[in-house]
Amino acid sequence: MELREFGRTGFKVSLFGMGTYYDPGWIAAAKLLRMQPRSEVHLKAIKTGLDNGINFIDTAEIYGTESLVAKAISGRKRDEIFIATKVWRSNLDYDSLIKACNRSLRNLKTGYIDLYQVHFPNQRIRISETMRAMEDLVKEGKIRYIGVSNFSLKQMIGAEEALKSNQLTSTQMPYSLVDRKIEEDILPHCSERNIAILPYYPLGHGKLGSDNSALSDAVRDISARHGNKSLSQIALNWFYSKHTNVFPIPRASNPDHVMENVGSVGWALEPEEISGLEGAVSQAR
Ligand SMILES: NC(=O)c1ccc[n+]([C@@H]2O[C@H](COP(=O)([O-])OP(=O)(O)OC[C@H]3O[C@@H](n4cnc5c(N)ncnc54)[C@H](OP(=O)(O)O)[C@@H]3O)[C@@H](O)[C@H]2O)c1
Repeated sequence: MELREFGRTGFKVSLFGMGTYYDPGWIAAAKLLRMQPRSEVHLKAIKTGLDNGINFIDTAEIYGTESLVAKAISGRKRDEIFIATKVWRSNLDYDSLIKACNRSLRNLKTGYIDLYQVHFPNQRIRISETMRAMEDLVKEGKIRYIGVSNFSLKQMIGAEEALKSNQLTSTQMPYSLVDRKIEEDILPHCSERNIAILPYYPLGHGKLGSDNSALSDAVRDISARHGNKSLSQIALNWFYSKHTNVFPIPRASNPDHVMENVGSVGWALEPEEISGLEGAVSQAR
């Protein structure tokens, strides 16, 4: 599996990570019934990815899947896996954030979190307070790197300015062939500062290609040239062929899809194929 350095961390991660947000119904039920996530098929999906060289997993306290991740990584070398989790927006004051991190560490059954992300901004809590807690966690060795998610460019800059002795490592935003809004502002800012981007909904939340015959035609031609690659494989390869510091996190909910995604690595789209795909998407609008 091809690996690339994640931002300026020095840590090399697989070109895509495994998302573990399954569905809102499950989250609500798990919270209400105080249930542990126990889906065997989800666990098998994550383990399949790890067995095939995917060393990067994204979770969040709100997903209820941190303990599933703990099961998946159990018995493996911790320092070869990059674990990203997120603190929910209601826990961004100093004390709540420290408590949330300790909870996540217990759920994940690990001594440290590689990437701790603020899941959503919260206007009621000063970003300086949130980042002070984050930096104290770095000092204590409980987290390695600090990231954000769903922050506008202005909010990202606010977070960067609030950090005293660390730099912002990453941001997580919706981004795909069919949603390229971040290319207008966030992406150039991140490229300039070597901030990694984790695109969520990298497959358009499963709706990629539906109702888009121009995209289907472009994909058919590209697929034929690259050994019958699927739409998902082409849509993921689009990220790696276009960028060096962008790591999509398609969800790992079944082993077949994970294996399909493993096949998105190890080849590259030509520049004219990239523009052909992008042109086909805008043509359909
Ligand atoms: N930061 C945030 O606020 C935020 C918000 C949403 C999501 N996320 C993160 O981003 C991850 C991905 O988002 P997502 O799951 O909603 O969207 P996605 O990965 O774009 O799409 C997942 C959907 O596509 C289907 N699919 C079809 N082919 C697939 C393939 N080869 N690989 C994976 N899925 C395939 C899946 O079906 P199957 O389930 O049958 O595989 C599922 O219905 C989440 O798991 C989570 O970690 C973050």
